Amino acid sequence: MIDIHFGDNLEILKGFPDASFDLIYIDPPFNTGKVQARTQIQTVRDDEHGDRTGFQGRRYRTVKVGTKGYADTFSDYPAFLEPRLEEARRLLKPNGSFFFHIDYREVHYCKVMLDGIFGRESFLNEIIWAYDYGARATRRWSPKHDNILWYAKDPENYTYRFDDIDRIPYMAPGLVGPEKAARGKTPTDTWWNTIVSPNGREKTGYPTQKPLAIINRIMRVHSNPGDRVLDFFAGSGTIGESAERLGRSAVLVDNNPEAIGVMARRLGFAQPRFHGIDAPPMAPAGDDGDLFTAKPPTPEPS
Ligand SMILES: C[S@@+](CC[C@H](N)C(=O)[O-])C[C@H]1O[C@@H](n2cnc3c(N)ncnc32)[C@H](O)[C@@H]1O
Repeated sequence: MIDIHFGDNLEILKGFPDASFDLIYIDPPFNTGKVQARTQIQTVRDDEHGDRTGFQGRRYRTVKVGTKGYADTFSDYPAFLEPRLEEARRLLKPNGSFFFHIDYREVHYCKVMLDGIFGRESFLNEIIWAYDYGARATRRWSPKHDNILWYAKDPENYTYRFDDIDRIPYMAPGLVGPEKAARGKTPTDTWWNTIVSPNGREKTGYPTQKPLAIINRIMRVHSNPGDRVLDFFAGSGTIGESAERLGRSAVLVDNNPEAIGVMARRLGFAQPRFHGIDAPPMAPAGDDGDLFTAKPPTPEPS
């Protein structure tokens, strides 16, 4: 079961009873100071004025069909986050876990704040999601990772389904013997995974969409089938898709009508219930391409 709420998450969270969720994952705006936007394009056959060549040399013209986006600038980012993080702790069940997805610009401030809310002993991991895409910096090391902080409400009692961890190949399989090499190893706290490909089937056209593979790993290991999961910065609804496909239920919140539209289309197969909005503005189907206009790639500061 998927519930999609439209509106400011702080108000909506206050309406949920204590200890309602087994797992909470959030991926708030990163305070990049930019508008996060993706321009969607469509290609139409145009032999005369086409700007692309396709199958059998046919010419196609690129048409902009719209831009999805949201503002990502906060004059006081900690003041925005703190009450929402406090709500997250209140809403977790006693054995629940909280995952906080951020990047290198804000992670240290957020870690200190979260230690204060959950207690330092509740901090269990900083997961580095490493990817490799887009332009390379020439005046510093190219930043190509996000940070995911994991807090357990009770560090002595939390869900960790070790046997459900997906296995990855050994770097030197020749050193471990054929049996181990065939089985693979469990990942460490550094997770290598590509971003959502701008041309792949997974992309929804929503900016900053996170890969299902990353979310599925969190979902499988840190929740049980039948559990209730919350994402209150839901964007394109990646948590919703993961929950539905892995047999969990999800509550998704976003205050951007475009996000609600994307979720309505993406999660239509699960027949979600909508709250705070009568007829969800269904995102148009049929776009065959998206262009990143925010990150990545981003121009390097000089
Ligand atoms: C980084 S995106 C989330 C992307 C998502 N993880 C995905 O995979 O598509 C952050 C989202 O938070 C939403 N948001 C920002 N402020 C909000 C607020 N006060 N209440 C609810 N949603 C908010 C934005 O509209 C945006 O969709």
